[in-house]
Amino acid sequence: MVKNIAVIRGDGIGPEIVNEALRVLGKVAELYGHTFKYTDVDMGGCAIDKYGDPLPEHELQKCVNSDSVLLGAVGGNKWNDVPGTLRPEKGLLRLRAGMGVYSNNRPAKIWPQLADASPLKKSIVDQGIDFIIVRELIGGIYFGEHKTEGDVATDVLTYSESEIERIGMIGFETARKRNKKLCSVEKSNVLDSSRLWKKVMHRLAEEYPDVELSDMLVDNCAMQIVKNPAQFDVIVTENMFGDILSDEASMITGSIGMIPSSSLGATTCGLYEPIHGSAPDIAGKDVANPIGTILSAAMMLRFSFDMPKEAETIENAVSAYLDAGYRTADIMSEGGKLVGCRQCGELIIENLRKG
Ligand code: IPM
Ligand code: MG
Repeated sequence: MVKNIAVIRGDGIGPEIVNEALRVLGKVAELYGHTFKYTDVDMGGCAIDKYGDPLPEHELQKCVNSDSVLLGAVGGNKWNDVPGTLRPEKGLLRLRAGMGVYSNNRPAKIWPQLADASPLKKSIVDQGIDFIIVRELIGGIYFGEHKTEGDVATDVLTYSESEIERIGMIGFETARKRNKKLCSVEKSNVLDSSRLWKKVMHRLAEEYPDVELSDMLVDNCAMQIVKNPAQFDVIVTENMFGDILSDEASMITGSIGMIPSSSLGATTCGLYEPIHGSAPDIAGKDVANPIGTILSAAMMLRFSFDMPKEAETIENAVSAYLDAGYRTADIMSEGGKLVGCRQCGELIIENLRKG
């Protein structure tokens, strides 16, 4: 198959982690006889430097016209003082909205090889950590009006029933394919938008009688994720709650550097990115963990290109690499063999076997 992939290297560690993912994809293409064509897209701080805009329209169009987008990370201290509407992150938000990818899927799954890297007690980890956060990605407070007038700053949080309904359906469908437990997370004791959220989820539940729906307030959820993560199968939540809870959930699996994500909307053209940031402090030092990006590329193969075998080939290679005891600095523990970003990619490529 021939697929056109828009590639956003971005800032900080973005270029180095994306390079490793592309090398992995190159080997997978060779093994399975596919052709992946790449189009480079400038987004984030590098686009501000080049065009004075974190995502110019012509760069967005390259993404919209691709079969899918692979993204490293954007942002860095260098652009901290630019106005809010021009920040590197604004490019990412514009990309998500421009592609219409309203559904963000962030798995929190512990690799058995990394159980020691979790900050949780062994007795909790041993109960299993394997859930997915389905995060609404193009609505809520991220996309409401933002303004500062004198000494007053305002950010508006809005959700419509239809926005809640479409992400709710993804939550139910995701749970249906797993253990059929969906936890809807909101703050309905305070927010109107959360009360609407809860109402819509319960209305949808009637169409999914095979899925068990529960409600949880977001502050309680933050606590339950560290107290008893084994209780969760699928969590569905709004944009900002999902942002916060997915960082927390990633940490209990050992490292944010390991977690991929997929974002999809009405078409198969998706956005695939690790959930971590651009880590400017370690950029260019060959110490970053490229696995979050490599696994994001695997998700792209599975969800956008209908290549499940190819995706599994990548996941198995990552598992074999971990089995062999190799660790980048973020997941290093006693007895591990320390490797850099480049070598991590190299070793994963050596473990790629056609399934
Ligand atoms: C994420 C990131 C982004 C977000 C930032 C970089 C805008 O934290 O993907 O989780 O808040 O969505
Ligand atoms: Mg985040």
